[in-house]
Amino acid sequence: MSHWVPLCRLRDAPAEGEVVEAEAEGRSICLARHNGALSALDNWCPHRQGPLGQGWIEGGAVLCPWHAWAFDLQTGVAALPERATVDVFPLRLEAEDVLIDLQSGEPAEVTR
Ligand code: FES
Repeated sequence: MSHWVPLCRLRDAPAEGEVVEAEAEGRSICLARHNGALSALDNWCPHRQGPLGQGWIEGGAVLCPWHAWAFDLQTGVAALPERATVDVFPLRLEAEDVLIDLQSGEPAEVTR
């Protein structure tokens, strides 16, 4: 079942190669733009709860600002350790709003 809610205005989404923190219904989200596509991941790193939305992008992954674990922007899977993952949420655009599906954990991205 889907649960689409507003995440941010499109104008507030990160620029190419950047990440920001956003919030939807009290859930903290790491919103990133890489190769023109927006990706939304759970903001809290499973290592020690570092804020991924304060990290940076390298090679299609967002790096945690605390100890540099790298999570793939499409799958949420960390390069090392291999079992570390964060949820990745579907996004869609509606007019000038970025919407997020908080119920689904399936990888997705939007371009614009
Ligand atoms: S808290 Fe994210 S790598 Fe340590």
